[in-house]
Amino acid sequence: MPILLIIFLSLFTVFVCNFPSLCLEKAMLVEISYLKKCAVVLLIPSVLAIRCFSATTPRDTIAFNESISDGQNLVSSNKKFVLGFFSPGASSHRYIGVWYNSVPRGTAVWIANRNDPVQDKSGVLKFDEVGNLIVKNGTGSSFIVASEMGVRDREAAILDTGNFVLRSMTDRSKIIWESFASPTDTWLPGMNITLGNLLKSWKSYDDPATGDYTFGFGPSIANASASQFIIMWNRISFWTSESWNGDTNSLIPVLKSMGIIPVSFQCDNLTCMYTPNPADIMTKIVLDQSGSLNITQFNSEAKLWTLLWRHPDSCDVSNLCGVNGVCNSSVSVSTSESICKCPEGFAPQEQSNSRKGCTRKTPLQCNGDRFIDMLNMTFPDNRQKLSVVEKSECEFACMENCSCTAYAHSLSDGCSLWHGNLTHLQNGVETLHLRVAASESHG
Ligand SMILES: *[C@@H]1O[C@H](CO)[C@@H](O)[C@H](O)[C@H]1NC(C)=O
Ligand SMILES: *[C@@H]1O[C@H](CO)[C@@H](O)[C@H](O)[C@H]1NC(C)=O
Ligand SMILES: *[C@@H]1O[C@H](CO)[C@@H](O)[C@H](O)[C@H]1NC(C)=O
Ligand SMILES: *[C@@H]1O[C@H](CO)[C@@H](O)[C@H](O)[C@H]1NC(C)=O
Ligand SMILES: *[C@@H]1O[C@H](CO)[C@@H](O)[C@H](O)[C@H]1NC(C)=O
Ligand SMILES: *[C@@H]1O[C@H](CO)[C@@H](O)[C@H](O)[C@H]1NC(C)=O
Ligand SMILES: *[C@@H]1O[C@H](CO)[C@@H](O)[C@H](O)[C@H]1NC(C)=O
Ligand SMILES: *[C@@H]1O[C@H](CO)[C@@H](O)[C@H](O)[C@H]1NC(C)=O
Ligand SMILES: *[C@@H]1O[C@H](CO)[C@@H](O)[C@H](O)[C@H]1NC(C)=O
Ligand SMILES: *[C@@H]1O[C@H](CO)[C@@H](O)[C@H](O)[C@H]1NC(C)=O
Repeated sequence: MPILLIIFLSLFTVFVCNFPSLCLEKAMLVEISYLKKCAVVLLIPSVLAIRCFSATTPRDTIAFNESISDGQNLVSSNKKFVLGFFSPGASSHRYIGVWYNSVPRGTAVWIANRNDPVQDKSGVLKFDEVGNLIVKNGTGSSFIVASEMGVRDREAAILDTGNFVLRSMTDRSKIIWESFASPTDTWLPGMNITLGNLLKSWKSYDDPATGDYTFGFGPSIANASASQFIIMWNRISFWTSESWNGDTNSLIPVLKSMGIIPVSFQCDNLTCMYTPNPADIMTKIVLDQSGSLNITQFNSEAKLWTLLWRHPDSCDVSNLCGVNGVCNSSVSVSTSESICKCPEGFAPQEQSNSRKGCTRKTPLQCNGDRFIDMLNMTFPDNRQKLSVVEKSECEFACMENCSCTAYAHSLSDGCSLWHGNLTHLQNGVETLHLRVAASESHG
């Protein structure tokens, strides 16, 4: 009987340990030769079966003389966060990133080389001879993740908070560099946001390169003694939160009206961090590629991120669709249909990027142009009001001036004219009459 048990255990152990996915949990291991270990186990099965499992506890650290290549991961000791190579969305480029271990097809919360991807799976994360932490690609080119010249007492570790750090091997409390001090687009609990430590949006769903939007916290431009969240588009501020007054939800008061207040902020005049509620729920605050801030929490039963709050709405983001582009907030962000379109008579400035605005297919002739009707719009920025009563007079006033590009007329609101390029065109309830060259065929 005991012999039978031993044989059974041996077979079981060999079986289990030949399948890394079972033996090594979900994440891959760093340079662990589990086969060697299991050969030992085979000899003395009942005692060492446990060793097979304990030997495969995923690593959270790489030492000065170690590395991880594409396909190998580090896992934080609480198993919450993984660091390794990945490809976002439809991209085939490889990035070193940090993601939640438990989220299937999860999105990275931090990326080391967002602007310097490896083209194929040849990437290796390692220390170089002088102590820099680098990503080296197959052709030998390298990207420096963290530089710390000439010191050998170094290791890199993924911590339980999702912070990826460079620290002293002999004194692990001595943090030399941390990913929390150079965020990508995601604010995790425990991370400080300031005017210097900004979130920077991705370029698109498939490209994590630095995009056009930033999110920070600091003194308000209008009132230096008040501090607030600030979202900028190409360094132009377009959304600010309420001011910090010491109350944990003063910055975004609407969060207080939720059944469970999802996050509490702790800030002073210069820096801000937050804790989720309840404290152990997976929470992230992400600056979207279209400039909106998403606060999401993970529903562990449904295994889905739930969006709790999003602001500003996509079409409120200034100039989202560029000059003469029309933003349509009714278009679902998740469909492939673009939120930005060009009006009749216009074509995208850049064929591949609908957000770069639109240019006329045919220049205005000034004499003999015509107007087309754009229904269900809101008025663009910078209108000029004219005190004429009749619609025909309003149209005439626009036609007469060669710089006039659109007019609108209603009994309640009178006559409005726009000159030059149109900005902030979006859907709504008004009718806009847009000037195009007469040769533009009727659509
Ligand atoms: C790294 O260095 C340590 C200490 O010098 C040594 O024990 C270990 O075997 C080395 N690891 C590798 C992979 O070279
Ligand atoms: C490595 O990086 C260099 C420089 O950026 C680049 O020219 C080369 O194509 C890259 N090779 C791979 C395999 O990523
Ligand atoms: C965040 O800021 C607070 C207050 O300035 C500071 O005490 C704390 O050490 C900072 N944390 C990190 C991770 O930088
Ligand atoms: C914040 O700034 C204001 C104005 O500069 C100052 O009166 C206040 O004491 C500061 N608060 C803190 C906590 O530093
Ligand atoms: C500026 O902010 C401070 C602190 O929030 C506030 O007490 C003060 O009234 C504000 N001043 C103006 C002009 O809004
Ligand atoms: C933000 O929320 C919107 C709306 O649900 C979603 O479409 C978008 O993908 C989210 N952005 C990020 C970066 O998670
Ligand atoms: C056309 O309108 C613009 C803007 O109101 C004005 O500056 C310009 O003088 C006008 N041109 C003519 C010919 O009236
Ligand atoms: C309109 O926009 C185009 C493209 O952005 C630009 O080249 C042109 O100078 C603008 N015209 C005016 C009047 O601002
Ligand atoms: C916006 O999109 C919706 C849904 O696709 C469509 O019904 C509507 O006509 C669009 N509005 C404008 C102004 O393009
Ligand atoms: C769109 O415009 C048409 C015609 O003006 C109007 O009947 C309709 O109510 C509008 N729809 C919306 C959603 O505003």
